[in-house]
Amino acid sequence: MLKIVTIIGARPQIIKAAALSRSIRERFSSQISEVIVHTGQHYDENMSNVFFSEMNIPTPHHQLDVRSGSHGKQTAAMIAGIEEILLQEKPDALVVYGDTNSTLAGAVAASKMHIPVVHIEAGLRSFNKQMPEEINRILCDHVSTLLFTPTDSGMKNLLNEGFKAEHPAGTKIDADHPQIYHSGDVMYDNSLYFAELAESKNILKNLQLSKGDFLLATIHRDYNTDHKERLSAIFDALDIIARSENKAIVLPLHPRTAKLLETNLYANVLSSLRSNPLLKIIPPVSFLEMIALEKHASVILTDSGGVQKEAFFFQRPCIILRSETEWVELVENGNAIITDADTERILKAYNHFKEHTKLAFPAFYGDGRAADFICGEMIRHFAK
Ligand code: UD1
Ligand code: UDP
Repeated sequence: MLKIVTIIGARPQIIKAAALSRSIRERFSSQISEVIVHTGQHYDENMSNVFFSEMNIPTPHHQLDVRSGSHGKQTAAMIAGIEEILLQEKPDALVVYGDTNSTLAGAVAASKMHIPVVHIEAGLRSFNKQMPEEINRILCDHVSTLLFTPTDSGMKNLLNEGFKAEHPAGTKIDADHPQIYHSGDVMYDNSLYFAELAESKNILKNLQLSKGDFLLATIHRDYNTDHKERLSAIFDALDIIARSENKAIVLPLHPRTAKLLETNLYANVLSSLRSNPLLKIIPPVSFLEMIALEKHASVILTDSGGVQKEAFFFQRPCIILRSETEWVELVENGNAIITDADTERILKAYNHFKEHTKLAFPAFYGDGRAADFICGEMIRHFAK
């Protein structure tokens, strides 16, 4: 039996972990036992608890309850907490997802205890070290033993950084001789699995939305929320599109953004959006509700990594409110346009997608069975 400890903490990790836990429960329960640790990086009901019941994720065995803080304080508290749990649980491997402070904390704690780190969503790069996530993902990749990248470009990035696709026969795979894989994306596994169930949600009806006749937006990146000019430029664009098109825009707002709206929006933008009934600013929604919104939005505007891809999974065009993306294939294939926080560019991208409605959606993110593949490889390498 292979024993893994899985670290989750932020919303997207809780969601991603659902795919692996489901695969273990349905196909590998006699070979893998999973201990889940929740760092508590996200803790509001609608940023954490809501996903466990809806997505059938096992209740975490350990809750660190670290909550918010500066990068240093938050990450340090997580490292200390995870180290104690690893001493107690003695797993064969530790699994981390993505690029948050919870990811980094897990990777640092385990690698220093010589516990192999399995990084799911490895290899992604924005080539922008102003992003805390870029630092987290680079550091995590370089202490990992198994690296599962969702995309071709992730594979190329790892090869460019010196990772080897193959090792001489007999090489023991460890942190000094890591193995990289192109596994596909566990988020695609989830979107396929939950797509139909999402139709049972009443969110469209509750918000009085008609299918295909509204836009969806999410904003939470620190470089957008923390700069008045950028946040105001984005909200200005949303306000203009809603009014000129007479279309609703739904904004399930991340708590980080919600807390900064009053202080960081220019007064004229704030008052205009307050008087615009078409801008529906709501608290974060559950995963199934989010999928229901994504499936039926005409266009999705976002600075989220996950939401960019879900737009693609549900064949919606996407406007990326950032200066670059790790999901480069979306832009190269014309499914998404990078606009940064620039009102004119956002309006131009919206008009582009009004005219160009025939987009192609190749299988960039695997076949919906990435989690099964990852479980199989973990067993092959670590099971005793
Ligand atoms: C974190 C990740 C980011 C990821 C995002 C997903 C890092 C460095 N960043 O950003 O990569 O895209 O999660 O959503 O790890 N807050 C609450 N309630 C909560 C959680 C947060 O009110 O349940 C507020 C707090 O004011 C907190 C702020 O949001 O200070 C930011 O939270 P934090 O987890 O530090 O970063 P995120 O912006 O959520
Ligand atoms: N999501 C959700 N409810 C919301 C907003 C997002 O369930 O109100 C989901 C979304 O469907 C995706 C994930 O959260 O699966 C993306 O997380 P987030 O945008 O917080 O982080 P990122 O992907 O940018 O790291």
